Amino acid sequence: MTSIQLPTGAPGARVLGLGGYRPRRRVTNDELAQVMDTNDEWIQSRVGIAERRWAGEDETLVEMATAAGGKALAASGLAPDEVDLVVLASASLRQPIPGIGPQVAHRLGIPRPGAFDLNAGCAGFCYSLGLVSDAIRSGSARNAMVIGVERLTDVTDMDDRSTAVIFADGAGAAVIGPADEPGIGPVAWGSDGDQHSAIEIAAGTSHMAMAGQAVYRWATTKLTETLHQAMERAGVTAADIDVFAPHQANLRIIESMTKRLGFGEKTVIARDIVQSGNTSAASIPLALTALLESGEARSGDLALILGYGAGLTFAGQVLRLP
Ligand SMILES: CC(C)(COP(=O)(O)OP(=O)(O)OC[C@H]1O[C@@H](n2cnc3c(N)ncnc32)[C@H](O)[C@@H]1OP(=O)(O)O)[C@@H](O)C(=O)NCCC(=O)NCCS
Repeated sequence: MTSIQLPTGAPGARVLGLGGYRPRRRVTNDELAQVMDTNDEWIQSRVGIAERRWAGEDETLVEMATAAGGKALAASGLAPDEVDLVVLASASLRQPIPGIGPQVAHRLGIPRPGAFDLNAGCAGFCYSLGLVSDAIRSGSARNAMVIGVERLTDVTDMDDRSTAVIFADGAGAAVIGPADEPGIGPVAWGSDGDQHSAIEIAAGTSHMAMAGQAVYRWATTKLTETLHQAMERAGVTAADIDVFAPHQANLRIIESMTKRLGFGEKTVIARDIVQSGNTSAASIPLALTALLESGEARSGDLALILGYGAGLTFAGQVLRLP
């Protein structure tokens, strides 16, 4: 019998570079209060958002993803032809066919990579990171790019004040390569499909509806276990974590998770939601990029990330910052 040969992968994978794209237009809470029945005090106290970015017409998913991917590629030091796998995570694609991963890869000059789109809601970045890290370890890919990109304003009902003040636009990307010393821990992922309709664009409609309180309860009670799993699988404890960057959904959820985890005093908590709103699959790479750019986080820091959202899906892992 002829045996099937398998490639030899790398001992580990690590993030080589990160990059983000924030749309030009800032929208403050006061600006929203002029067009809907809301106010700065309510938004800041319930969700923690001070302002968010909304994409202009020319800031399409492809444009924003290409901009973020280009920055991550430059930060990684790799040439485009060294990347052979591109995973584009998004929950706000308006055109089902074709996916935009291949087009974005082409725009970045990456020749003929494996390229596809992935929809795991706001957990899309962490799901994708888990997949490409394993692809590099198994030898299916040499270097990979993950891009989270959203234009949630396209699918938000501006007459629904409970979602219109939260969701926003942007893109964040990471380039991942092989490493002798693992820089990305095993993914802890899962889903609670019994709550599939808690965040949805129902068939025949074009806007997202969200059962806010149910999602809040779920996020603050069910996901601590996943964070512990991600740390356990990587062989680290909360005391080892330098940076906690969960999905930027709601500042109160971030504070509640932080309290339950018991980090050390030095742990930096990502609070990019204050300036960026909820950018779904883009929120974690955007938050990490902001912390590195401001100097609050440093290269080599150990970060714990967790994405969660529509599905309901969740995924988290430990990673070493580039
Ligand atoms: C959406 C969310 C902020 C709503 O906060 P809440 O405390 O649950 O608020 P409720 O829905 O109970 O509404 C309370 C009141 O505020 C009002 N309200 C809702 N949105 C408002 C807004 N933008 N401005 C002012 N008032 C608002 C409601 O109409 C309601 O008024 P009522 O008591 O007169 O009926 C909160 O549930 C939440 O953050 N959930 C998690 C959502 C999330 O993170 N989703 C993303 C996951 S990826």
